[in-house]
Formats: sequence, C-alpha cells, structure tokens
Amino acid sequence: MIICVANQKGGVGKTTTLINLGAELARKRKVLIIDLDPQGNCSKTLTSKGRFKFEETIAAMFDKPKVVTINNLIRPALINEKPIVNLDVVPADFQLSRVIETSLTKINRERILEKQLAKLDNLYDVVLLDTPPNLSLTTLNAIQASDLILIPVDSGAFSLDGISPLLEAVSEIKDDDANYVILRNEVDSRNTIINEFMDEELEVIQDKLLPISIRRSEHVGQANAISSPVRFYKPGSLINNDYRKLSSYITSLL
Ligand SMILES: Nc1ncnc2c1ncn2[C@@H]1O[C@H](COP(=O)(O)OP(=O)(O)OP(=O)(O)O)[C@@H](O)[C@H]1O
Ligand SMILES: [Mg+2]
Repeated sequence: MIICVANQKGGVGKTTTLINLGAELARKRKVLIIDLDPQGNCSKTLTSKGRFKFEETIAAMFDKPKVVTINNLIRPALINEKPIVNLDVVPADFQLSRVIETSLTKINRERILEKQLAKLDNLYDVVLLDTPPNLSLTTLNAIQASDLILIPVDSGAFSLDGISPLLEAVSEIKDDDANYVILRNEVDSRNTIINEFMDEELEVIQDKLLPISIRRSEHVGQANAISSPVRFYKPGSLINNDYRKLSSYITSLL
C-alpha cells in the first residue's frame, strides 16, 4: 500500500507523523519511506549524519528515470548508525528543487514516481511518501502514486479553507475517487476552545476525519533533536500509543 502524507501548509507535522508511523509499522511490516521534500527533513532523521551523495537521492530518479530506478536508491534507515529493522529510506536533499524545475518539460511528468514504484514488486507492505508544503511536482507525483492520502492538520490556524487547494488537486488527479483521511495532530485535550472550534470546522467532512488523533508531546521535539523516532528515544511516551493506533488503522487496510 502506498500512502502519501500531504498538506500544503508547512509545519503541521507531516514529517513527524510519517517517521513515527513508519517506525511503528516496522515492528511487523516491511516499510519504505521516500523523501520527496527538498528540505530533506526525514532524510536527515533517518540517515546517518545527514550526508549522502547527489546520485543517491530521489533527485537522480526524477532526473533520469530511464537510467536510475528507485531500487538503486534504497538504503536502510539508521538510528545511532545501526539499521532499523524493516525500515528503509530513499533520501532527498535541496538539489531536488532544481530537478523538479527541469522535469517540468517531461511528458507524463506526474507519473514518474508511480511508474518507478511499480518496479518495487511488492517488496514492501507499506510505502510512505513525505511531501513538501506546497503543490509542486513531487507532491503531485506522490498523490498520483498513492492509494491513500493522509492529511495531518494542526490545531493552530487550521481551517478547511487551508486544505481546500490540496483537496482540489487530489480530486483532479484522482478523478474524484480520492481516498483521503484527515488526522488531527498536536492535540491538547485541555484546550477546549480550540477543540470545539476544530470539531465545528471539521463537521462537514466528518466521514474523512480519523477517529484517531496525535497528542502534543514534548518528546517529539526531543526525539527530533537526536534524529530518532520517539519509539526508540522514549519507549514509554504516551504519544507512542497514538502512533500505535494509527499504525493499527493502516494495517487494517492492508
Ligand atoms: N505531536 C506533536 N507534538 C509536539 N510537537 C510536534 C508534534 N508534531 C510535530 N511537532 C513539531 O512541529 C514542528 C513541525 O513538524 P514537522 O516538521 O513534522 O512538520 P511538517 O508538516 O513536515 O513541516 P514542513 O511543511 O516544513 O515539511 C516540529 O518542530 C515538530 O517537532
Ligand atoms: Mg516535513
């Protein structure tokens, strides 16, 4: 199953959710994380020291899809320089933005990733795609290739208007049979005013709202700081229960 995590709004927890969901799924399933964001945030967390050569990032595949296949770019995800069992990654870095621009003239440019993922031959139970906070070519490739689009929203300045450009792109690409779900992130159960506002705002798309939400936890920032999923940094953190529930939900769809 291919899942992209998307929201054109920045900083809503796309990368954090994806890394921790991936680490949780990897307990029982084989998982590949593909970084499609030139910021390379999830690559930095999951590859040792955050340094890799240009030929070894996803940019090479967008640049020369006939020469470089996705299989050439896969490496084990690392924590403390040791591989995480069942979790692999295809990294990205800032050079992806240049390649996106040059790919704009390619025929079928929205399908480059989809075609490559077909070559994986069911090697993975779940492929997770991390996207940048915009509707650029890599995000469109991710939507095109995905069976499910997971949209994290935060409690901050969230409004339905904020995700409507994304939903429009999704329905255009997927011809209206779009499979998307909305996940509330950084939820603080004590903040009743925000929570009531969110409930009201989300009522019209109730059927798309996951019954699971991810709480706000200081362990997220701490784990990020040492380039680790929370699961390995603080196994007893309550937020792991939320990621576990999300992981069970995804597993139930497989
Ligand atoms: N559940 C959470 N609890 C506490 N902090 C969180 C939580 N989720 C995300 N954060 C924090 O919010 C910030 C943004 O998260 P993240 O980088 O995952 O967002 P993003 O949507 O991937 O951003 P971008 O759009 O730039 O790629 C980070 O500092 C992260 O540590
Ligand atoms: Mg991100």
